[in-house]
Amino acid sequence: MDKLRIQGGRALHGSVAIAGAKNAALPQLAATLLSPHPVELANLPDVSDVANMLTLLEQYGARIVRTDRDAIIDAGPARPAETGYDTVRRMRATVLVLGPLLARFGEARVSLPGGCAIGARPVDMHVSALSALGADVRVEGGFIHARAPKGLRGNRLVLPSPSVGATETAIMAATAAAGETEILNAAREPEVIDLAASLGAMGAVIEGAGTHRILINGPASWRPAAHRIMPDRIEAGTYAIAAAITGGQIELSGARLEHMASVVQALELAGARVWPGDRGLVVSGDGALRGTDVTTEPYPGFPTDLQAQFMALMTQADGASMIRETIFESRFMHVPELVRLGANIRLQGRTAVVRGGARLHGAQVMATDLRASVSLVLAGLIAEGETVLNRVYHLDRGYEQLDLKLRRCGAQIERAAQ
Ligand code: UD1
Repeated sequence: MDKLRIQGGRALHGSVAIAGAKNAALPQLAATLLSPHPVELANLPDVSDVANMLTLLEQYGARIVRTDRDAIIDAGPARPAETGYDTVRRMRATVLVLGPLLARFGEARVSLPGGCAIGARPVDMHVSALSALGADVRVEGGFIHARAPKGLRGNRLVLPSPSVGATETAIMAATAAAGETEILNAAREPEVIDLAASLGAMGAVIEGAGTHRILINGPASWRPAAHRIMPDRIEAGTYAIAAAITGGQIELSGARLEHMASVVQALELAGARVWPGDRGLVVSGDGALRGTDVTTEPYPGFPTDLQAQFMALMTQADGASMIRETIFESRFMHVPELVRLGANIRLQGRTAVVRGGARLHGAQVMATDLRASVSLVLAGLIAEGETVLNRVYHLDRGYEQLDLKLRRCGAQIERAAQ
């Protein structure tokens, strides 16, 4: 297992090519199981979650031709085999194959998902969405077993809260259901819009993605398709914070301002400057940082996937800030580790109170989730001396060549075998 060694204290300057979005790629890969025709997905990020999802599709019998960042997935020969726990336990997103398999084959049995250790992360909304479309779904013995021998029927679904994954499961299953499906209180994340665009290219008829009300008219007439995955707004936000925390300047090549309004607003309130460049966004952190409160919310609010990184930034601000997590109940694993580096953070339920201006000192740290891990890297970039981050595989799940991209901007960061 690799680890990262970081020597802190360098301002980062340079340009980072933002990869395709992991959280857009995963559902779109799962969606290829719906169609008997090949789907070409371009701009796939080179991260292990995507590699795992491709392996899973192969286990179902899909044929995959991969060239660099593109893949042609032909799920024509796919069959609903039972998947090994091993592939599925690695990431929660494998639950996304349930809807497509059920929709296409009338039956699916998928192991309950694993993934980041950020709270209970139940699948009840996925289950009730599929039930509302006419499936008989049971969760037993660590598996989710869904059956719809007579096919799925369109229906009106009201999600209790706008879960991204449950919205995606509902959309994918509804594309193959007969008649109209209406999803109310749908998630509005750009990744949901990108999934709808990809499914649209494949032959599905979907309206309203990006709003709270999505309409799907099924069943789709599938056809061969090609789609380019949107840029990763969370990766872009992470490098934006890297620029701000080190007092440097980074161009986020390919990033889209329209996906990042709440993040840009928080960065500007904190004292960073952000402006559109020729190839994306430029973020500069050459002034003093101010304590800025953020609350994580469903899109277009501040993303939970940038909460840990923003907290690392706030350890360096003048004054205090309150960071409230409303999406996941226990997404604060980075707090004790940031404190080990010298941060002054106190937890009060779902709120972290960060007193800024702390001098961080390098230490051995470790995290059990992807975004928590990267927040420790950001802290390491400004800590005095050496920070050693163990368990780098969490980072590799979702950040493409993180150490290389940071090194190219002037960071002193090396990967070493444990
Ligand atoms: C996706 C993202 C993840 C991000 C999250 C919130 C992917 C692959 N992952 O995860 O990076 O942090 O959105 O933006 O896209 N919930 C239930 N029952 C369910 C489903 C969810 O109670 O059936 C709860 C979850 O425990 C959580 C909240 O709803 O508290 C939001 O989860 P959800 O939006 O579904 O997140 P994911 O799709 O898992």
